[in-house]
Amino acid sequence: MTQSYDIIDHEFDVLVVGAGGAGLRAGFGCAEKGLHTAFLSKVFPTRSHTVAAQGGISASLGNMGEDDWRFHMYDTVKGSDWLGDQDAIEYMCREAVPAIIELEHYGVPFSRTAAGKIYQRAFGGMTTHYGKGTAQRTCAAADRTGHAILHTLYTQALRHKAEFFIEYIALDLIMSDDGQCLGVMAWDMDSGTLHRFRAHQTILATGGYGRAYFSCTSAHTCTGDGNAMVLRAGIPLQDMEFTQFHPTGIYGAGCLITEGVRGEGGYLTNSEGERFMERYAPSAKDLASRDVVSRSMTVEINEGRGVGANADHIHLNLMHLDPDIIHERLPGIAESARIFAGVDVTKQPIPVLPTVHYNMGGIQTNYKTEVINPTAKDPNAIVPGLMAIGEAACVSVHGANRLGSNSLLDLVVFGRAAAIRAAETVTPGAKHRPFGKDDGSKAIARFDHYRNVKGDTSTAELRGSMQRTMQDHAAVFRTGDVLNEGVVKIDKCFASKGNLGITDRSLIFNTDLVETLELDNLLSQAVVSMHSAAAREESRGAHAREDFPDRDDKKWMHHTVSWITDSLDGKGGKVKLGARPVIMKTLTDEVEVFPPKARVY
Ligand code: FUM
Repeated sequence: MTQSYDIIDHEFDVLVVGAGGAGLRAGFGCAEKGLHTAFLSKVFPTRSHTVAAQGGISASLGNMGEDDWRFHMYDTVKGSDWLGDQDAIEYMCREAVPAIIELEHYGVPFSRTAAGKIYQRAFGGMTTHYGKGTAQRTCAAADRTGHAILHTLYTQALRHKAEFFIEYIALDLIMSDDGQCLGVMAWDMDSGTLHRFRAHQTILATGGYGRAYFSCTSAHTCTGDGNAMVLRAGIPLQDMEFTQFHPTGIYGAGCLITEGVRGEGGYLTNSEGERFMERYAPSAKDLASRDVVSRSMTVEINEGRGVGANADHIHLNLMHLDPDIIHERLPGIAESARIFAGVDVTKQPIPVLPTVHYNMGGIQTNYKTEVINPTAKDPNAIVPGLMAIGEAACVSVHGANRLGSNSLLDLVVFGRAAAIRAAETVTPGAKHRPFGKDDGSKAIARFDHYRNVKGDTSTAELRGSMQRTMQDHAAVFRTGDVLNEGVVKIDKCFASKGNLGITDRSLIFNTDLVETLELDNLLSQAVVSMHSAAAREESRGAHAREDFPDRDDKKWMHHTVSWITDSLDGKGGKVKLGARPVIMKTLTDEVEVFPPKARVY
């Protein structure tokens, strides 16, 4: 070690970074299989962002009518605008049913039908018979489904005696000279100590990077730390231009109002009181997929039919719903609307606006959750010892647009898949490899650098510039001019990190330092997102180019792969973009590939 920090060493079979839904499902699965497993989490596990998930988790249980996992697969492929990998989508939709039954057995308190079955509501883009009927596929625990699942998974992790390192922030991966992940360096914010974790498998479950934007439904902790660590290790991210705007964030506050409101019969209106979604999606209406609804709302506002003093938002109506239904199935959003918008949902509409909600892009993995680092010889080469799951990963089941309630599903299905793969690849208690040139010192050098920066740009100032740039230049609608201007501005933000300054040099709960490390993580992701968006000259899913309004399967039906060079002085920031074909094959012969076609709702 070059610096004078005391390092505390730990050895595990498996280290899970992040203890939200995906991380917990993976980690207790590993512990259950006899692997010595630890979790490392920035926050107490039950405060992870999964807790905020409201409307539900999809699975073709068929409790409310006919359903089939193939219908779910078709909807997900269509929702992804044919950018999702069909092997992974098949895996997720098929495994959804046993995954929900498993959750029920673990103790998730799902809402129930009168017959005692798991209650399922309608969600956007979910159909039966390949688009012909409407599916009620989203299993719900009122409108607090994420809360219910997260607490259940946490108790399972405790039951299986996994170890927790809580309020530890991961600093960087430790990589061997030949490209294997050997573990992670971390800072214990409570005691101020630095820790070196060795593991045979490191599973990144660090969530998305919604906080790169000014207004989002994501928690302040959603800074994509795993994604950034991967980029610093020279491993690319995938599809970073695809950011989902949830149609119904509370105007001004950004808090989520679940799509479940529309699933229970709520609808959107403009300043003329018109149910405008009937014009944009005559069949699915308010339950079209999220990208379609967010674009329609934006058009209404841009054409002068927004509501409010500045005609800059839309109304979500549920006054016509039976108050008992609201009380039973939507109690959380009634409370949020009262607190954050001052609205009694039984009497007034909720003011809403499309708000950044989810990152479809992330760490490239195969459906077994192994991280891919393409080489000239092998485009599917995996990084030994490294896996990624949940919103951090791009497996890619969501492609260019995720369907609502497929996120909680992604967490549990691929969390479970990671545990299965870890058990296949790790021998419990096996000896650890010696470190190569990197023994964790690179991570410590970065930590020490930010602890001591003395420039004249504050973290809050630079974070504000980055967030405004992303909000203004990578929004619901994009054009080449706006994106190219965004590229110049975001590159400038990246360079400005060389001029950051913080005043608190302490090691214990130094929130200034935590936020600076997180900002550094956000910056690299913001830069590759903007560059990827500027490069993709077509409209697909959440990436809507006004100058290229059509999907162009000939030129663009491929994933974007992105790398960035880094340096602490901000002089790096050089982006390289590549492409990876979409996987158009299935895992079994129980279903056929869904070929691309026009996407209408
Ligand atoms: O609207 C919602 O309840 C969000 C669900 C999701 O993003 O999957």
